Amino acid sequence: MNQHSSTADPVDGPGPAPSRAAAPSAHGATRWWRDAVIYQVYPRSFADGNGDGMGDLAGARARLPHLAALGVDAVWLSPFYASPQADAGYDVADYRTVDPVFGTLDDAGALIAEAHRLGLRVLVDVVPNHSSDRHAWFRAALAGDPAARARYHFRPGKGPDGQLPPNDWESVFGGPAWTRESPDGEWYLHLFAPEQPDFDWDNPAVRDEFRSVLRFWLDLGVDGFRIDVAHGLVKAPGLPDTGRTGQVELLGSAPLPFFDQDGVHDIYRSWRRVLDEYPGERIGVAEAWTPDARRTALYVRGDELHQAFNFHYLNAGWDAGELRAVVDESLGSLGAVGAPSTWVLSNHDVVRHRTRLGGGSGRARAATLLMLALPGSAYLYQGEELGLPEVTELPDAARQDPSFFRDNGQDGLRDGCRVPLPWEESGPSYGFGPGGSWLPQPAGWGALSVAAQTGDPHSTLELYRTALRLRRERPELGDGEPLEWLHAPDGVLAFRRGSFVCTANTAAEPRELDAAPGEVLLAGGPAEGAGAVGGAVLPGDTTVWWARG
Ligand code: NOJ
Repeated sequence: MNQHSSTADPVDGPGPAPSRAAAPSAHGATRWWRDAVIYQVYPRSFADGNGDGMGDLAGARARLPHLAALGVDAVWLSPFYASPQADAGYDVADYRTVDPVFGTLDDAGALIAEAHRLGLRVLVDVVPNHSSDRHAWFRAALAGDPAARARYHFRPGKGPDGQLPPNDWESVFGGPAWTRESPDGEWYLHLFAPEQPDFDWDNPAVRDEFRSVLRFWLDLGVDGFRIDVAHGLVKAPGLPDTGRTGQVELLGSAPLPFFDQDGVHDIYRSWRRVLDEYPGERIGVAEAWTPDARRTALYVRGDELHQAFNFHYLNAGWDAGELRAVVDESLGSLGAVGAPSTWVLSNHDVVRHRTRLGGGSGRARAATLLMLALPGSAYLYQGEELGLPEVTELPDAARQDPSFFRDNGQDGLRDGCRVPLPWEESGPSYGFGPGGSWLPQPAGWGALSVAAQTGDPHSTLELYRTALRLRRERPELGDGEPLEWLHAPDGVLAFRRGSFVCTANTAAEPRELDAAPGEVLLAGGPAEGAGAVGGAVLPGDTTVWWARG
């Protein structure tokens, strides 16, 4: 008997589960996550309930009906915990409280309850690689408490006066990964900003603390966790030099002594045991940047996590050969450990795929329909259902991404995908909230709003709604039938899954298929609507879903 199942959870599990994946498996479990479509809410930019210009939990709760109508299965919330916001909340000062900017713990409970009432599951972020420099443990460490210091990586510097960093590690945000605590003190490690000191996961106190943090949120009713920098917790013994120069890439795949060390897997085995103490299949999703899908698969072995983000897919260009190789590698490696693949095109760290893929809204829609036809689970990033482009014209004075302020860092352009959503066609922040918006929204943003697109059969929003409905209705999709590649002309990806066929033309020009694979179910590309896909000619940058007779 589950030790928690006898105590009433403050929040009931999801109501009528919208996904057909919720059918019980032979083991009685739902395995809902194997083909869930999970929507990322970036709370500061989703909806603002109190009019201070920053999104919050009350605002997000009020907008949940949009997500239920869109047809997603679950919501993942980026961090809303107490934080000085040096990295937009990925610098956590207290893992068990809500930052006043976002609301209160009651607001979190109310959001979870309302999501469940609407049939949506809720994942929250957990940030275990580093804390904020304002976390009580790090403050105690700087004050000299030896037990607290042992929970982080403090080291003497090199050189006669210890004035050089202990090794050659570079921060992902640019500059050295070490900061000296005082002019004659030790150095501490931070793989990200100096305000984000890395925990030492060899220390049992750190391990105990995070199992307790997981239970805290599970007790509040969350359905799982997205695990930030899941591949970074364990560092190679002795913290050896990398011997390389050059910037560590965000979402990169280079082998490094501070990423993807084998020791991380013990941690996730112990986390899985915590998740399994709770009813209803609570899940863990790794944000793990790894060299290849084989290494990613290690995170989702049967006794570890449930899913891992597929950044190799996100990083692939709009190119048939490249995409097919990533799909094959993902299905092969993850299938070998019995795990579903996940697919993702956009998130809060990358240029929105409408802009990144370089083909405007048509290519972005084609890419989305291809992704949603693949076997497994898919992640959507807020606003992609509106076809939002990256905002490239932000004034420097408005920027908040910490990497923008660090020399030689990443390009610091992550603010461009974080501009608050337009909900209404007009108003001071296009319905984002009753006040302004923490990042300026471009003129014309209202034309892309939920209100403007609802009911327009040619809109990106209605295409997403239809695609998600079909994905739910057709048993071949999601975790349904296996993928079988079909012969296709250059630049075209074609595959069948039972009686469902997907053809994606990544070329800019039309391509002729041998024959129409069936009846058109849905088409997404620059030529809108099924009517435009005449005969067996596939317009450029277009994906078509077909049903075989
Ligand atoms: C990955 C998160 O997605 C990103 O936004 C953050 O800056 C880093 N991890 C550090 O926590």
